[in-house]
Amino acid sequence: MSSTNAGGSPAYRILAIETSCDETAAAVVADGRRILSNRVASQIELHRRFGGVYPEVASRQHVLAIQTVVEDALADASVAHVRELDAIAVTNGPGLAGSLLVGVNLAKGLAFASGLPLIPVNHLEGHIYSNWLYTDSSPIAVSRASEDGNGSVSDSARRQRSGSASEQFPALILIVSGGHTELVLMEGHCRYRLLGATLDDAAGEAFDKVARLLELGYPGGPAIQAAAESGDAGRFHLPRPLMRPGQRTERQPDAQASPLPTVLPVRGEHRFNFSFSGLKTAVLNLMRQLEREGTEARKPQTAADIAAAFQMAVVDVLVGKTADAAAEFGVKQVCICGGVSANGLLRRAAQQHFAKIGLPLHCPPLFLCTDNAAMIGAAAYYRRSYALARQPSPMGGPHSTPHDQPSEPSARDYLALDVYASLPLVDSIQR
Ligand code: KG4
Ligand code: ZN
Repeated sequence: MSSTNAGGSPAYRILAIETSCDETAAAVVADGRRILSNRVASQIELHRRFGGVYPEVASRQHVLAIQTVVEDALADASVAHVRELDAIAVTNGPGLAGSLLVGVNLAKGLAFASGLPLIPVNHLEGHIYSNWLYTDSSPIAVSRASEDGNGSVSDSARRQRSGSASEQFPALILIVSGGHTELVLMEGHCRYRLLGATLDDAAGEAFDKVARLLELGYPGGPAIQAAAESGDAGRFHLPRPLMRPGQRTERQPDAQASPLPTVLPVRGEHRFNFSFSGLKTAVLNLMRQLEREGTEARKPQTAADIAAAFQMAVVDVLVGKTADAAAEFGVKQVCICGGVSANGLLRRAAQQHFAKIGLPLHCPPLFLCTDNAAMIGAAAYYRRSYALARQPSPMGGPHSTPHDQPSEPSARDYLALDVYASLPLVDSIQR
């Protein structure tokens, strides 16, 4: 595997480790964008019988799996020894403490033994950067403006891989995962302002809980999506929480026909916030009402119709608010990320809306939507290049470029690494 980038200079290669929840993952990423290897050992089968992630089981399984996963990731990238790399990155939060500690401790050990710098990464920042990744098989789109005088592409940053995000800012990011639902204005690399977040359940959590109510299985997102395929989204009407009328999409059923309020009044400050716990309760109430009327709510066709109505309600809210924020802040591109960004209806609805208004939309390929370590390697590269570069190093002078060696933070600096990091924000703009 080549360790130079398209410009011929040595690539900056990071070994990234991710163990924040129920996936044990390791990857090698070059220059923050090119995936050299990406291994994920999923624990889904282990947790299925509990209907959700069992934290103690998760951390023990990470301990059992991590060494093989890291060795495989190194071998796939043709790396014989960690010392050949430039840095080690690890997710240090948010997530399950016992799970995070497995990855963090291994990363500290590897950094200590190899002398490589250790870059702690916020899991949500990882999801954001999943949009900047590509593999060697991703198609390249080269714009004329990015070609040099000879017509050749001069460096990897100028090679715009179709499907991956560009250097156009501000960008609007919708993070939709099992634990988070956030709208973030990204003003530049590693510069975020929080526009809104969920007040209660995350979107993925709502998918998981509704799937449990309908006994569709775990994880709930893919199960709801599969059931919804044979469902009629118009048979039942569910609320679109915290949406104002102007945020409604065309596909939304007529509010008059609904036994439940389709649009709830929303105060100005909740314009970009989300709430999914009431939607889950609406599903529960609908199921109870159907049972009272003698309809078995979990009967396959009825469950499919409820799943389709629920999925449509979540997608309407997510796309409506993202569209509204994109217009308000005049962003140059929109990125969707996190496990729920794998949802087919969400991807199609967002693509339809943003294609219509001519705004570039990026969703990661499906294998990068759910938890993985490649996204941690990408975020680490940009954090080191842009955020750490602005701060004085714990070892001395300021960092400047990713290839500067002298002022690297070492593993020693991170021995007391916290596992409860939240997304580092410049500021938050709550409406
Ligand atoms: O990002 P992720 O892998 O882990 C967290 O950081 O939480 O997201 C997991 C979440 C789960 O709630 C899962 O049900 C949801 O993503 N998910 C989906 C789909 N695939 C995964 N939700 C809706 N549709 C999907 N196809
Ligand atoms: Zn995640």
